[in-house]
Amino acid sequence: MSNIQQYNFTYNNIHNTIRNTAKTIAELGYVPDYLLAIGGGGLIPARIMRTYINRPILIVSLSRYSDETGTAPASQPIKLQWLETDIDLTGKKVLVIDEVDDERTTLEFTLQHLFDSHPGAEFSAFVVHNKKKEKKGQLPEQLKHFFVGEEIEDYWINYAWDAENIDAFGQ
Ligand code: G4P
Ligand code: MG
Repeated sequence: MSNIQQYNFTYNNIHNTIRNTAKTIAELGYVPDYLLAIGGGGLIPARIMRTYINRPILIVSLSRYSDETGTAPASQPIKLQWLETDIDLTGKKVLVIDEVDDERTTLEFTLQHLFDSHPGAEFSAFVVHNKKKEKKGQLPEQLKHFFVGEEIEDYWINYAWDAENIDAFGQ
């Protein structure tokens, strides 16, 4: 495994990347009303972003697998939990957050369904890492902004939160 090119992204590295993007967002004058995490990978990034953009966090959760024992990813993600909120998002700006844009499948699915279910809302997206590669999914045209923390090569990423031994993960 060690000859496969990989990235290790520590909590501090991720935090700094999100801080830098928050600065870019502020400079642009874009102020979202809500942050929306795509679970599971977007949960920790969304919470870190809230440190810089202090807005309430909404959550949707998806899976690429049809059941817990399934090993082959479904071609379409499955909604485990969707946006059920008493809050009217009409006219609201929502910043959708995920950790990585890989094949773009999850992002396309999520954004398309959000636009369909909440036609009066304005959606933008932020991913901490975007892999430079040919994408299978597309970003909807209605997407207002697409923010990328860091453009990276198409290597496997090890995120700090996946570490079983965080003390051995490095600095
Ligand atoms: P995308 O739309 O975000 O590009 O996701 P895609 O469906 O292509 O990716 C399938 C799953 O693989 C996603 O997890 C994504 O986060 C994960 N993934 C892709 N590349 C990497 C990588 O380099 N490192 C790690 N650790 N994960 C990667 P998911 O199905 O959304 O699961 P969850 O972890 O969010 O629950
Ligand atoms: Mg995910």
